Amino acid sequence: METYKINFEPLGLSGRCRADESLLACAHRIGIGIISLCGGKGNCQSCRMQLLEGTASKPTASELKAYSRQEIKEGWRLACQSYPTSDGKVGLPPTSLTTTQRVQTEGQEVTVSPEPVVTPYQVKLSTPSLTDAQADAARLLKALNHQHRLSCDNIDIGALSQLSPKLRSWNWQCRASVREGEVIAFGPWPSRQLGLAVDLGTSKISGYLVDLDSGQTLAAQGVSNPQISYGEDIISRISYATKSAAKATQLQKLVVKAINQLASDLCAEAKAKVGDIVDAVLVGNTAMHHLLAGLPVKQLALAPFVPAVSRAIDIKASHLGLKFAPGAYLHLLPNIAAFVGADHTAVLLATLNDENKETTIAIDIGTNTEVSLIDKGKITTTSCASGPAFEGWHIKDGMRAASGAIERLRIVDNKVQYQTIDDAPAIGICGSGILDAMAQLYLAGVLGEGGKMDEKNPRVRASDKHLEFVLVGEKEKKGVRRAIVITQQDVRELQLAKAAIRTGIQVLLEANGYGDEKIQKVIIAGAFGSYIDVANAIAIGMLPALPLERFQQVGNAAGTGARLALISRSKRAAAQKIVSGIKYIELANVPGFNQTFMQASYLGRFRLKEGKRKGV
Ligand code: FES
Repeated sequence: METYKINFEPLGLSGRCRADESLLACAHRIGIGIISLCGGKGNCQSCRMQLLEGTASKPTASELKAYSRQEIKEGWRLACQSYPTSDGKVGLPPTSLTTTQRVQTEGQEVTVSPEPVVTPYQVKLSTPSLTDAQADAARLLKALNHQHRLSCDNIDIGALSQLSPKLRSWNWQCRASVREGEVIAFGPWPSRQLGLAVDLGTSKISGYLVDLDSGQTLAAQGVSNPQISYGEDIISRISYATKSAAKATQLQKLVVKAINQLASDLCAEAKAKVGDIVDAVLVGNTAMHHLLAGLPVKQLALAPFVPAVSRAIDIKASHLGLKFAPGAYLHLLPNIAAFVGADHTAVLLATLNDENKETTIAIDIGTNTEVSLIDKGKITTTSCASGPAFEGWHIKDGMRAASGAIERLRIVDNKVQYQTIDDAPAIGICGSGILDAMAQLYLAGVLGEGGKMDEKNPRVRASDKHLEFVLVGEKEKKGVRRAIVITQQDVRELQLAKAAIRTGIQVLLEANGYGDEKIQKVIIAGAFGSYIDVANAIAIGMLPALPLERFQQVGNAAGTGARLALISRSKRAAAQKIVSGIKYIELANVPGFNQTFMQASYLGRFRLKEGKRKGV
């Protein structure tokens, strides 16, 4: 049987596909998670792909139904219906990929010339003798300044404590890492300098280990924020921390321990040592930022909601208990307001550039959702408490995006088609699946505009407390141990979450005198935002009804912004400039907020104007 080499982009994975094997089957065989809700029958359209190079079998009836003639001309196909007839290249849109793969491409590539704050210098020292017994530190500074025309006069005390034995073991030649006139670390020459970028979220901490000389990301991982046991949202963390200084310190130590573990895991993956990390940048919401830095948080939650500091700050990492190179600093990007932190600054840093001429909404969906409207160089920002429902909290069968979570779902003729992470038996439903379920229930008429569930639907049943729609019945599929449902109460929680997000967007538009149609681009950042089906988010009225091509899902842009600031001192300056030009709007102070919020809680495609809803 003939075989062909197929490259699957943007994953950069390739494999040989047999002529009698569909591109879907081939992708699955080589470990690429393309969504296939109907199991390859050609009727769910979840396996959309574009043939970028090469040829394939003639489009089938299902494909002709799925695409316009123009799209077919452009190479759009269904992977389950296409069989290769030559070597080729296939493009997979993010919406066709399961979570496992999408995590690998999470966040944009960092494209900036390295211009790190810490510079490595090769230093060759003369050997001490009875006639030249000057101190090791003085010998090093003299050689460093002389050989590189510097005027350093300070060595970090932690770095100094390692200097004497190291110099002798390296035969009087070393790498001195210098930051703003201070020697903060040493290493053998040659040796690489590493940096750590951290996005400290309320529920998740993402870490990126970066080679500071090349700017390349060597390893990336995410872990849960251990503070979650002391409150799932910002307000409960703040109230826990304000009970006593010991409790605030406890929260701080938990995160420090988690970051140390993350750094050590990342270094193990990249075959490096934590002592090679000479610089770090951290972004997070203002409460996470303050708790880590040991700053008071009480005033964040009390009107008029004031941060202790908003400009960027640098702290010795060792001062916080972070175990990097002894003299390494942690740079915290500037905050915008009490509820819009450095993580949003990082999103803006990663997504805006000088050519940004389009009226853009940048939105980072999380427990707290931050929204900015960028128009003619002006930025207006707000934040809304969207809560953790889209992370699976407070949802009866909600769970985080892990093996066995339903991540894509469709309802056709009252039959539920779904796909789980890793194709494992369904055990719950994660954020993207929850949003799909809500939209599909609405589109199928099971939920009304107000969110009320149709009790006459055959899949709707009454539980002890509420009506519930059975997504997966107990005996419906092999391996499923218990039913997975969406309850009426879940729908109410989700209505509040999505109304908060839509209200945030609406308030910014109205503050600038604009309607939805003015928006030329919507950038959706954040892990959850990258996986959602935008069409479904529009169907429930969470996002404005705009053409789909105006939406861009950019992954963890906060992490990307943190990496940019890590490898480029100009980007740190740019972050400060962005923040100083932002106008912040406090949502709750906006006249008509309650009316807009109430209208935004309805399901369906609509426009909002002055607290009134109009279907589109
Ligand atoms: S249409 Fe291809 S898997 Fe459903």
